[in-house]
Amino acid sequence: MKVKQTNTVEETKFLGYELGLLLKDEPHIVILLDGDLGAGKTTFTQGLADGLGIKQIVNSPTYTIMKKYATPDRFRFLYHLDLYRLQEAGSDFDLEEYIDGMGMVVIEWPFQVKEFMPQDHLRVGIKKLSETGREFTIECHGYPCKRAIESI
Ligand SMILES: Nc1ncnc2c1ncn2[C@@H]1O[C@H](COP(=O)(O)OP(=O)(O)OP(=O)(O)O)[C@@H](O)[C@H]1O
Ligand SMILES: [Mg+2]
Repeated sequence: MKVKQTNTVEETKFLGYELGLLLKDEPHIVILLDGDLGAGKTTFTQGLADGLGIKQIVNSPTYTIMKKYATPDRFRFLYHLDLYRLQEAGSDFDLEEYIDGMGMVVIEWPFQVKEFMPQDHLRVGIKKLSETGREFTIECHGYPCKRAIESI
């Protein structure tokens, strides 16, 4: 487990960037982002995308549930999910397809559907300390991500 503090949006993006770089060669990894509204889950995901080498602008998939991004060479994919409104979207959204699929799968509000969450995952808890202070708790569960989190 690793605990990190950020004090600006840029620092949060940079933390995501560092983790993205360390994990960019993993064929499949699920990252669960756990934090309140406005904690910085999407901001952190923007950094992750940057670390993977993704050039598109990453913004919140709240209304679409899922957005898919590719690196320019199309070798790496990021699936950015926000399950906050999953219930409204109905049951035709095939969550398992993404969770068992390829690439980096980043999930905001993962505990909306606890039963689908894989045992192997990297969990990032984000706590608001102040207007601009955020505490990140990064834990690796089962995946070969231990070394990655040790080096950030
Ligand atoms: N250190 C920080 N790291 C990240 N965001 C910060 C920080 N300080 C302030 N902020 C602000 O907090 C907000 C974070 O928004 P963001 O969309 O990333 O949160 P979120 O956790 O994805 O929220 P939601 O649950 O609504 O999807 C932004 O308005 C940003 O400017
Ligand atoms: Mg968000």
